[in-house]
Amino acid sequence: MERTERVMLWIGGVVMAVFFVAVVVLAAGFGVDVPGCITEMKPFERDTLFQRTDGRYELHVVARMWAYQMPPVELPAGSEVDLYLSSGDVLHGFHIDRTNVNLMAIPGTVAYARVRFKEPGDYPIICHEYCGVGHQQMVGVIRIVQ
Ligand code: CUA
Repeated sequence: MERTERVMLWIGGVVMAVFFVAVVVLAAGFGVDVPGCITEMKPFERDTLFQRTDGRYELHVVARMWAYQMPPVELPAGSEVDLYLSSGDVLHGFHIDRTNVNLMAIPGTVAYARVRFKEPGDYPIICHEYCGVGHQQMVGVIRIVQ
């Protein structure tokens, strides 16, 4: 094996090791989580907010053309929300700004993500999947108060 080949292989190995360590550090240290699709849960029909315990909430969202129909959501800072998302008609997206929540609302399925809102403020929600002529007005907001 040529010396240059060996050096390039070593560089490639080191770069892969650095990326692997970065992924582990982000996942463990910053709580970065991959959203999941729940198969054993029946898709729900209505948007509902449940309070589980102090600071723990469960939010069911049904995306429909062209709105998230959930009631105004106002939660205290530090709240942890288990978010369940379904669709009543077509494919929709669900991205909560300033968080890592980025889900697809797929008819007949339930997507899941957990998010903690540390800072007070408005967290806009947008549909990021083209879903028809009203797509651009499909927005929502989660308000976090002190
Ligand atoms: Cu819903 Cu785009």
